[in-house]
Amino acid sequence: MTDATRTASLEEIDLSNPDAFVERVPHEWFEILRREDPVHFNPEPDGPGFWAVTRYWDIREVHRRWDVYSSEIGGTSLEDLEPDQIEARKSMIDLDPPRHNEIRALIKGKFTPKSVRGWEDQVRQVAREVIEGALPKSEFDFVREISSEIPMRVFADILGVPQEERRYIIEIGDHLLGNQDPEFARPPERPEHRLLPFSSPAALELFRIGRALAAERRRNPKDDIITQMAFGGLTPREYDVNFVLLATAGNETTRHTITHGLLALIENPDQLERLRRDPSLYPSAAEEMLRWATPVHHFRRTTTRETELAGTKIPAGAKVTTWFTSGNRDEAVFENPNTFDVGRNPNRHMTFGPGGVHFCLGAHLARMEVRVTFEELIPRLRSVELAGKVDRLRSNFFNGIKRMPVRVEAA
Ligand code: HEM
Repeated sequence: MTDATRTASLEEIDLSNPDAFVERVPHEWFEILRREDPVHFNPEPDGPGFWAVTRYWDIREVHRRWDVYSSEIGGTSLEDLEPDQIEARKSMIDLDPPRHNEIRALIKGKFTPKSVRGWEDQVRQVAREVIEGALPKSEFDFVREISSEIPMRVFADILGVPQEERRYIIEIGDHLLGNQDPEFARPPERPEHRLLPFSSPAALELFRIGRALAAERRRNPKDDIITQMAFGGLTPREYDVNFVLLATAGNETTRHTITHGLLALIENPDQLERLRRDPSLYPSAAEEMLRWATPVHHFRRTTTRETELAGTKIPAGAKVTTWFTSGNRDEAVFENPNTFDVGRNPNRHMTFGPGGVHFCLGAHLARMEVRVTFEELIPRLRSVELAGKVDRLRSNFFNGIKRMPVRVEAA
């Protein structure tokens, strides 16, 4: 925490500024907002400004009332898009019921706890291979070697992406989602790129991979997600944008959770010891890593009419952002919210959203991946420490870590 954020007044808080998230998450700002102005109007330098909702129960209310707080009118990101851009890019996350529910229903059966249990052995195998491949290097970038590799391989297996395109998919995802960070941002090269997800030509590459997979499944149907989507009556555009959603939603988010999870264990050696001594804590440790990391800081909705939230009037057509980062440290819900506690119970974090129709479809899969990764990693480590600077993503949307050099001694 910098001194500037420690002593911030409401006027100084600016959640629209990605620079405020580079050194670390400005948790002090969120504490002030929860206490002093829980439905806060944040002006924007190049936009109409947005309302920032920072208390746990208020965030839940926004996500439950999709008829008042629409995902469809203005999309779910802070950026203001033209109506044709919103229309062209709408995946299920940017739709309201009923169309949202129809598309989600096509594939939701593949993400139930039962389906996910069926993948656990495969995920464990992937985690073992990746970890055993990295540890002999002794000093390496944990993000490149382990935390980006596991979710990407798992999801490529599940979607059936060919081996040789897997690393490429990660790189495309980085360009798409890290679009506030100068390292990853690619400006639209042609005017028609405005209509692509994230206005990025990199999306065209994902479309190509997705279409090739769909064509293959149309010839050889399987009992899998792509087949469900290929035969699900989606328009070609709906297929493209939902493929991009699936290919990107689980990669960075799970990666950042795993990276933050290890960082939290390095910074809290007592918790690492506790986990080593009591392996029954892996499930609660994974939940605490999810709360601690909160890889997605916020989502956005647009009001369909004038409304009132926690006593504050919000006009129709307003941008409303819900800050999971803040809800996950709301002292009204979590005891000692700023303590990383691998045995935390209960832990009703909102890392996958606070419930409602858009609750993360991949939540069970992500939970299992995080738990299995640490179940496989920790027993193989005699020691682990940072070997350089933790390099964070410049973004007020993702709580991302780009690089985390570590030094390890294998057990
Ligand atoms: C730690 C990892 C993950 C985090 C933090 C995360 C977070 C989220 C959040 C916050 C939402 C929006 C919830 C809302 O608006 O109420 C969401 C939606 C979604 N997530 Fe995840 N997610 C993760 C992993 C995954 C994985 C592995 C998949 C696999 C495909 C996935 C697929 C989706 C989809 C398809 C949606 C849109 C659901 C809808 O609109 O109905 N996510 N996720």
